[in-house]
Amino acid sequence: ISKPALHPGSSDFIVVSNRLPVDRVSTEDSDDGWRRSPGGLVTALAPVMASREGAWVGWHGAPDEELAPFHHENMDLIPVALSADEVELYYEGFSNSTLWPLYHDVIAPPEFHRTWWDAYRKVNKRFAAAAAKTAAHGATVWVQDYQLQLVPQYLRALRPDLSIGFFNHIPFPPPEIFAQLPWRAEIIDGLLAADLIGFQRPSDAANFLRSARRFVGAGVKAAQVQIKDEEGSVVHISRAAAFPISIDVTTIQELAVRPDIINRARQIREDLGNPRTILLGVDRLDYTKGITHRLKAYGELLNEGTLTVEDAAMIQVASPSRERVESYRLLREEVDGMVGRMNGQFDTILHTAVRYLHHSYPVEEMVALYLAADVMLVTSLRDGMNLVAKEYVAARGDNTGALVLSEFTGAADQLKSALLVNPHDIDGLKAAIMRAVHLAPGESSRRMRAMRRQILTHDVQRWSEDFLTTLATQATPV
Ligand code: G6P
Repeated sequence: ISKPALHPGSSDFIVVSNRLPVDRVSTEDSDDGWRRSPGGLVTALAPVMASREGAWVGWHGAPDEELAPFHHENMDLIPVALSADEVELYYEGFSNSTLWPLYHDVIAPPEFHRTWWDAYRKVNKRFAAAAAKTAAHGATVWVQDYQLQLVPQYLRALRPDLSIGFFNHIPFPPPEIFAQLPWRAEIIDGLLAADLIGFQRPSDAANFLRSARRFVGAGVKAAQVQIKDEEGSVVHISRAAAFPISIDVTTIQELAVRPDIINRARQIREDLGNPRTILLGVDRLDYTKGITHRLKAYGELLNEGTLTVEDAAMIQVASPSRERVESYRLLREEVDGMVGRMNGQFDTILHTAVRYLHHSYPVEEMVALYLAADVMLVTSLRDGMNLVAKEYVAARGDNTGALVLSEFTGAADQLKSALLVNPHDIDGLKAAIMRAVHLAPGESSRRMRAMRRQILTHDVQRWSEDFLTTLATQATPV
């Protein structure tokens, strides 16, 4: 049932993100051909949207297609069109081959191309114009993530009446690395136009403030940045702080007690030949996730005979991601090769070393996997937060299970009772895996309880409330 079309200028709360929070599905699976995407952000924000005159501005995921605004499950969605060229230059190029590797400790070499930067500016302008057109006077606009760092500045120029928040879901690099970006000053200026700039970890906020001081000479006092005009009077104050994102705890907990999902978890164990220990990795197939480090450590344990395929099995879900970007293609080849070699060497007719699944699964299957896994392996080399770690903890209602967690994830700040590892240290990683495999029930439950206390009191709802409340008190509209 479609409601009347949205009036421009009538929304008092607007979220802007590269992707709209819906996926296209066949009309057999939905009334209007769209389904809400899985993920905490939309779960947290959908009620806020429904209770206010909310709208979401974003790309609908297909190139060269103009779509009119539409409604879906109480949300007003405003699609922004991207041409095939823009997908290549702005999305695959500047966003995912320049900013993504640069912001993740240059694990892969970032590429700097002026044509990519031009497309990034042009597309950011388009997102800002769409938000400006949608916003009512004095509205709140919340811009999400690294693809849209210039939107706060373009938007403020068009609409000085708005209260503008920005949240960076990925790490913000130290100035020594950020310095490489030819357009570092422009990015800082783009962000500083927001009233509140949120980061995952305090260290990300501190990195940003150091870069603001160094590359645009910003006056930083505590967490505040004062922007002055030519005469030296303060025209705008921006604040940077950490707001660690979380997950939709209720949904995961509800799924984790559903009998069909518990049965499915049992089935997974049986299908794997009932090994004593199931180890699980769940990641987008991304070079930041340390998948090859994890496989190397596990392969060495099998090779030495510390583990055997009869007593342990690893499931690695690697969901397809950014497949047209070169470094992702290379990673896929590397992981495919490693898994092939390991399985060739260690598999028996009955048992496998690594059950490698290059697919995406619905959240129900993910929760069944979390329930089936004795040991969860999160070995990112750099990760803004890592929500998989938090989901695993939320699913373990009986306080069993062990989480091996990289100290280079934002989640390590909150999940201090995980078995923390430096994934570059393969011997340390092997030791942590073995510790997790043999963790005494008492210790495992003590650790899990402590982690659950943190997650259960800090869900994504609380995250969005914290951010929006701080933004409301911070904003100083002209
Ligand atoms: C990360 C980013 C998100 C992004 C997601 C999936 O979590 O922080 O902004 O949407 O990866 O990547 P994709 O390129 O498919 O949107």
